[in-house]
Amino acid sequence: MDFSKLIKEMTLSDKLAQMSQLLGDYYVSDDYTKLMGLSYGFDVSEELAWNAGSILGITGAAKLKKVQEEYLKRSRHKIPLMFMHDVIHGFRTIFPSPLGLACSWDFNVVEEAASIAAKEASVSGLHVTFSPMADLVRDPRWGRVIESTGEDPYLNSLYAKAFVKGYQGENIKDEFKLAACVKHFAGYGASEAGRDYNTTDISNYSLRQFHLPAYYAAIEQGCKMVMTGFNSLNGIPCTGNKDLLKGILRDEWGFDGIVISDCTSVYELMMHGYAEDAKESCEKAINAAVDIEMLSTTYFENALKSIEEGKIKIEQIDEAVLRILKLKEELGLFENPYKDIDEQKEKEILLCKEHREAARKIAAKSIVLLKNKDKILPLSKMQKNIALIGPYAQSKELLDIWKCEGREEEVVSIYEGLKQKLDITVSSGCGINIGTAEEMDRAVNSAKESDIIILALGEHSDMSAEAGSRGYITLPKIQRELAEKIFELGKPVIVVLINGRPLELGEIAQKAHAIIEAWFPGTEGGNAIADILVGDEYPLGRLTMSFPVTIGQVPVYYNAFPTGRPKRKDSNPERFVSRYIDIPNAPLYPFGYGLTYTEFEYNNVSLSSKTLIKDSLINIKVNIKNIGERAGIETIQLYIQDMAGSIARPILELKGFKKVQLKPGEETEVQFEITEDMLKFNTYDNGFAAENGRFTAYIGKNAAELIKAEFELKAAN
Ligand code: BGC
Repeated sequence: MDFSKLIKEMTLSDKLAQMSQLLGDYYVSDDYTKLMGLSYGFDVSEELAWNAGSILGITGAAKLKKVQEEYLKRSRHKIPLMFMHDVIHGFRTIFPSPLGLACSWDFNVVEEAASIAAKEASVSGLHVTFSPMADLVRDPRWGRVIESTGEDPYLNSLYAKAFVKGYQGENIKDEFKLAACVKHFAGYGASEAGRDYNTTDISNYSLRQFHLPAYYAAIEQGCKMVMTGFNSLNGIPCTGNKDLLKGILRDEWGFDGIVISDCTSVYELMMHGYAEDAKESCEKAINAAVDIEMLSTTYFENALKSIEEGKIKIEQIDEAVLRILKLKEELGLFENPYKDIDEQKEKEILLCKEHREAARKIAAKSIVLLKNKDKILPLSKMQKNIALIGPYAQSKELLDIWKCEGREEEVVSIYEGLKQKLDITVSSGCGINIGTAEEMDRAVNSAKESDIIILALGEHSDMSAEAGSRGYITLPKIQRELAEKIFELGKPVIVVLINGRPLELGEIAQKAHAIIEAWFPGTEGGNAIADILVGDEYPLGRLTMSFPVTIGQVPVYYNAFPTGRPKRKDSNPERFVSRYIDIPNAPLYPFGYGLTYTEFEYNNVSLSSKTLIKDSLINIKVNIKNIGERAGIETIQLYIQDMAGSIARPILELKGFKKVQLKPGEETEVQFEITEDMLKFNTYDNGFAAENGRFTAYIGKNAAELIKAEFELKAAN
């Protein structure tokens, strides 16, 4: 469509309204004709509301249809509204939180979850989801690590693509598809000291090496929108950061989609000390090419004056409006403002049997087996006398705070899942943060009468995600007390964890026989946990974020830079090397870690050549043997270290992985290609290239258990 005529006809106020995103709740009075803005404490004029470009935060086919109808009656240019919302890990059928999904090391799983979420959300009337979050994370104090896919740029990039593919499909106009919005551009995952909304201080090198790749990957996949971060980069808040939003995003990467601020982050430019007043906030954001202002109304209130004063050019506004109109066109809204809204389909599709089944399979794939002493797991279905204890034993709060339309009453609790497979007793022992002596005694007594105890512990969902930063990342005190009392009985204890971040597990890691990390597993969580506990599903998950031994190590992550004084051996404490005198350097569970119900042996790593000639490739091979008594699936990981570069290179970088399924005693050869492309990085002279020299390739089951082979990169003669 040629929008030039429409843009000419629009007044400045019409344009600024298109660039404003309001809260959907303003529109949902009983008859949908009266604005509720005032009752929500915002002074939003009729003029703005009935001409706004998009709204966020409400869902439901009947509701959104009425809002769109009323809007189209009242708005001047009849430009359909876009409905946006946080569909993060499912709409009504809730999948594991993104950090859990990522532990599947399975991009198809993420694509499937995103595509189901898009299907449910689209029939309920939504057009855009504020997902994926591509922020790379290293600090488990930051609650939002649960929304991330972890600490690795390679996995984060492929996951970002998988999310976008699942939401958008081939064409966002197609039935059951949404536009995706990658966030929070850029580097918000580096919020200092893990405190949410805090500043970030990221070197240019780290920004490019670690943080930017996943946002770029989403855009390469065709992601239609980008949301700015709440953080600052180089002293400039992202929402007003021209170098970032124009320089990198638009000019360097050629992104021509919409940039949206985060919630009130245009207004917040003032709080950051980057704007004198709301008017200057508006100018700085518009001049950084932020097309849509989310929730605050500084554009609508100030831009007219700024244009008169020559502080903003009308061309900048017109470009933003054009981008907004184009997305509406791409979604097909000018042809059909209701797109996929369908009350009948909403009834049939939301949480249908097929979606529940997918949620169960996917949740099982996201679970990570952290410990399994004496092969206590899987439990035999004949096993009697099992006590299920803990605040999460019967809790249905398995969804996390980004549960979207997910409902607790529809969740399968751990007890409900397990009782279908095992004969168990159940008691809570305590709540998440508080408890009574009687509750605890009851649980301890039931433990005394049982042979095996399953302890379901964890964080409350409020303790992670947005504004969920914690200074201590242990389990709450009351739960540690409960665990201690149970451990004192000297019986085998299997701990199931429901939590939003890598935790400091302390004694639990030592005293439990087995530990299952289930994250917030979603609607079918209880069934998936039960499937893993009895071995109906293989544990497959691998961590994508390191678990620290203690908070004092944080940030601790696998792809760190080398030091001039590396610590050599844990058993040989030397003083003047890079180490702590009181805690280990290594995390408790490293990146890539996760056990299975069998064991695999790695042998004979070999390279097809010790020399990789530029523009060609070599192969690396390894033999994998299942030396246990059960069948299982192993995730074989390939890492590379560039031994020297024009800028020092990380000690390890994940470059690929493969999964193999082997029966007991079975053996196979696994092969990876190593190409020059895999060795490229942001070089000292701002290039992106592979530099000649020595490399070490590592193969193994996680970032700490590796076998290696060395090669050299050379130019062809
Ligand atoms: C969060 C975003 C989210 C937005 C809209 C903000 O507070 O940072 O991730 O998409 O709210 O709900």
